[in-house]
Amino acid sequence: MAKLNINGKVHDVKVEADTPLLWVIREQVGLTGTKYGCGVAQCGACSVHFNGVVARSCSIQVGSVKPTDVIVTIEGLSATSTHPVQKAWAEVDVPQCGYCQSGQIMAAAALLAAKPDPSDADIDDAMTNICRCGTYQRIRDAVHTAARTAAGTRKTAAATSTFAASRAEDQS
Ligand code: FES
Ligand code: FES
Repeated sequence: MAKLNINGKVHDVKVEADTPLLWVIREQVGLTGTKYGCGVAQCGACSVHFNGVVARSCSIQVGSVKPTDVIVTIEGLSATSTHPVQKAWAEVDVPQCGYCQSGQIMAAAALLAAKPDPSDADIDDAMTNICRCGTYQRIRDAVHTAARTAAGTRKTAAATSTFAASRAEDQS
């Protein structure tokens, strides 16, 4: 028995403690966006966010997960699929067969959360997920696109709050 916080919802699951988190996410919880590729932490198809850090769910045993651990899958990245990384992936038309792409998106989102303006070398270091279709160049382009979009959003938000603050000052 385990209590798992996945995408903001607590799930009580009845499984053996050594069951990989990936299987629980897919079989017990029914979130099939997270994929099985290798099962040995090599390919990254099973990537999720675990307490804000990208992790390979095929290699996490459910028995080691605490109820306070926060797990986010591709389905929980954005309620409306409008996370900057998801938008960039669509804009750049990254996927080919698509199988590896939810893992790639989760890895890219974690990278940008830690490093908002990554270099090509940063991307290559952080994005170790395997794509058998060879979409690596488009993945790189899309990460840069997402970084630019997110920077633009931050700039707009900062300008709006500066404007609001100066208006409030004028009216006081
Ligand atoms: S299935 Fe987990 S890394 Fe390949
Ligand atoms: S898009 Fe086919 S494996 Fe990556």
